[in-house]
Amino acid sequence: MSEKIKVGVSGACGKMGQAVIKAVQAEADMELVAAIDIAYCGKDIGEITNNTTCGVIIENSLEKALQEKQIDVMVDFTNPDLVYKNTKLILENNCRPVIGTTGLVPEEIKELENLSVQKNLGCLIAPNFAVGAVLMMMFSQKASKYFSNAEIIELHHNKKKDAPSGTAIKTAELMTQERKAFGQDNCVEVETLKGSRGGISEANIHIHSVRLPGFVAHQEVIFGAPGQALTVRHDSFDRISFMPGVILSIRQVMANKGFIYGLESIL
Ligand SMILES: NC(=O)c1ccc[n+]([C@@H]2O[C@H](COP(=O)([O-])OP(=O)(O)OC[C@H]3O[C@@H](n4cnc5c(N)ncnc54)[C@H](O)[C@@H]3O)[C@@H](O)[C@H]2O)c1
Repeated sequence: MSEKIKVGVSGACGKMGQAVIKAVQAEADMELVAAIDIAYCGKDIGEITNNTTCGVIIENSLEKALQEKQIDVMVDFTNPDLVYKNTKLILENNCRPVIGTTGLVPEEIKELENLSVQKNLGCLIAPNFAVGAVLMMMFSQKASKYFSNAEIIELHHNKKKDAPSGTAIKTAELMTQERKAFGQDNCVEVETLKGSRGGISEANIHIHSVRLPGFVAHQEVIFGAPGQALTVRHDSFDRISFMPGVILSIRQVMANKGFIYGLESIL
């Protein structure tokens, strides 16, 4: 059997990180070699995810782990304040990043693309790893050709730090590739309560962010036209929905050089 892919997880003790640890450990061609988090430092990650030890001790320095261990792919699910710095660090240490953390702005994505090309390393950043969510984005892009009015409502759990979600931003970008301006025939609006109409994308797509306990990750894109409406909706009820996409991405960056933004490019 060929050598296993050595995987590290940054943000290992978080909601997504723990799901990734279990998913990686279930794959025959992958080996978990590092778990990075500022929480539970010094503990065996297996005790956090499975109530049993697995021999991988949680460490708090991503840089030290990258320098001291041989890691083929580093998966990052930390938080929006860290994601740019972490991705840069991963590439600078000749490791391949698979990035799920949201909050990167277009200029940062461009810089990371340049760095991955310069380093000749596979690098994948995806605002949403759920296949259904990627299809929801693709269907929304397609519908944009036929509907000139659309709004996005994204709904997440109340511990999510960034708004709007990376998925909503990416959806608006894809829709904009199909149509440059939405809602041009709307009347002049007056907001009596500031923010009521949500955030407004470059192409005038209104984006509304809902944050409530009990939710995981959900989004609907509503298209309206005289006499009809089309709603494209996706729900992630469980973080397990993201795992096939994460596993696919780990294999992708290992097998191929080059930069990928969005899972749709490898489906
Ligand atoms: N791309 C996707 O499909 C997808 C899906 C769900 C969530 N997300 C994104 O993933 C990110 C994480 O989400 P979550 O729900 O797991 O969050 P979380 O808060 O549960 O987990 C974040 C983890 O990062 C750790 N952390 C914080 N600072 C750190 C540091 N300096 N070094 C190391 N670890 C540190 C925290 O201790 C925590 O364990 C968010 O940006 C979220 O929007 C993306």
